[in-house]
Amino acid sequence: MANKLHLITYGCQMNEYDSERVAGLLRERDYELTTDEREADVILLNTCAIREKAEDKVFSKLGELKRLKAARPDLVIGVMGCMAQLQQENVLRRAPSVDLVFGSPAIARVGELVERARRERRPVLDTAEAPLVKITAKAAGAERLKAFVTVMEGCEKHCTFCVVPRTRGRERSHTPEAIVAEIEGLVAEGCREVTLLGQTVNAYGRDLTPPTDLAELFHRVNDVEGLARIRFTTSNPYNLTPTLIRAMREVPKVCEWFHLPLQSGSDRILERMNRGYTRARYLELVEALREAEPAMAFSTDIIVGFPGETDEDFEATVEMIERVGYDNVFVFRYSRRPGTPAAAMPDQIPDAVKAARNGRLLEVVQRVTAARGGLLAGRTMEVLVDGTSRKSPGELAGRTRCNRVVNFDGQGQVAVGDVIHVLVTDVLPHSLRGALATPEEAVCWSR
Ligand code: SAH
Ligand code: F3S
Repeated sequence: MANKLHLITYGCQMNEYDSERVAGLLRERDYELTTDEREADVILLNTCAIREKAEDKVFSKLGELKRLKAARPDLVIGVMGCMAQLQQENVLRRAPSVDLVFGSPAIARVGELVERARRERRPVLDTAEAPLVKITAKAAGAERLKAFVTVMEGCEKHCTFCVVPRTRGRERSHTPEAIVAEIEGLVAEGCREVTLLGQTVNAYGRDLTPPTDLAELFHRVNDVEGLARIRFTTSNPYNLTPTLIRAMREVPKVCEWFHLPLQSGSDRILERMNRGYTRARYLELVEALREAEPAMAFSTDIIVGFPGETDEDFEATVEMIERVGYDNVFVFRYSRRPGTPAAAMPDQIPDAVKAARNGRLLEVVQRVTAARGGLLAGRTMEVLVDGTSRKSPGELAGRTRCNRVVNFDGQGQVAVGDVIHVLVTDVLPHSLRGALATPEEAVCWSR
């Protein structure tokens, strides 16, 4: 009988991608996935360390699993990913029921590591650096319409608040050949949209010989027949080049959606964060991108309550959100991460102030994103059909190139995976409603 693996994934899209590789590698060793932790022989938690809360969640889950382990001592519990890399032995100290701790560089060896943990009956720890390998193994039934593809690992930016350079190591890019081959394989199984992943994806390729860049990669991925759309995340404004901006316009499959983390709208705070740009520079980039592609939608990440953030700094952030006019904003309360320079800064902000700023910002974000959504009413937009509507199963659902959800009545006329056109009839807070339209009715919309 096959062994059973239960896999719990926390955190970002890169972790989701890694989890699929792990499931695939263990499948080759006769492990099949189960959604029921009680019947698992091995439970792996793929963890995130970006904020303290993410780690708390994992420790509380490990606390729960302790009981399962007490009842079934042969159960193997493993902690992998960023928190494993950051905390290492601390995980074992705080959660003695854990048998295995390994960071992302060790993923390629997961099969051996799990076997060792099962055999040796004492904790196994592997958080060493290792060369980058492209793992092509996939979980059973992983064929799908949209897929993530990691194109680079690591980050060397050293923003003062961030643990990623410690958890994910140096910047290392996969070769364009390996990436294109992976995407061709996905498309052969029905994939129509890929999201190219990297912590600073727009720094892609500069470590390769010969060096290359994301713009060049766009062109190569664009040539994959059968693929409809290319997305990418996450970009750092510091590395945004005119070449990439041009490619956003020139490469047809690249969608008009740009995730460009701002973090703060105050120059003083940006400097303390070591972000490498000013608000004026950021606005210039937004302007250049909208000039290249008027339909460009922007999303961003904001941290509230960074050490030393005054009311005035915070107001500068509010003002930037209004000025840029984002389609989506992710707001985070600053979290002190071990070993980062900002954690040692003296003027930490009280939780109550962070909470108040967080609340205020969410109100602003709701207003700004709703206004952006309002601009879409009456427009005909390209939609990739990806399933049925969550609320009314009689309807189909899809996403626009600018990443908004659209529900429409198209049963019997179009199928999942089709790229079609929809006339937007209603703009709701979290989705659009529309009716099937012909491409001739489509007009590119501008600000
Ligand atoms: N590479 C990306 C960031 C990846 S981390 C970039 O260049 O911006 C994802 C988001 O988590 C960040 O954009 C930031 O907003 C948030 N984040 C990172 N560290 C944080 C911390 N210590 N506290 C709160 N939020 C944090
Ligand atoms: Fe983190 Fe800054 Fe890199 S936010 S991932 S150190 S670009």
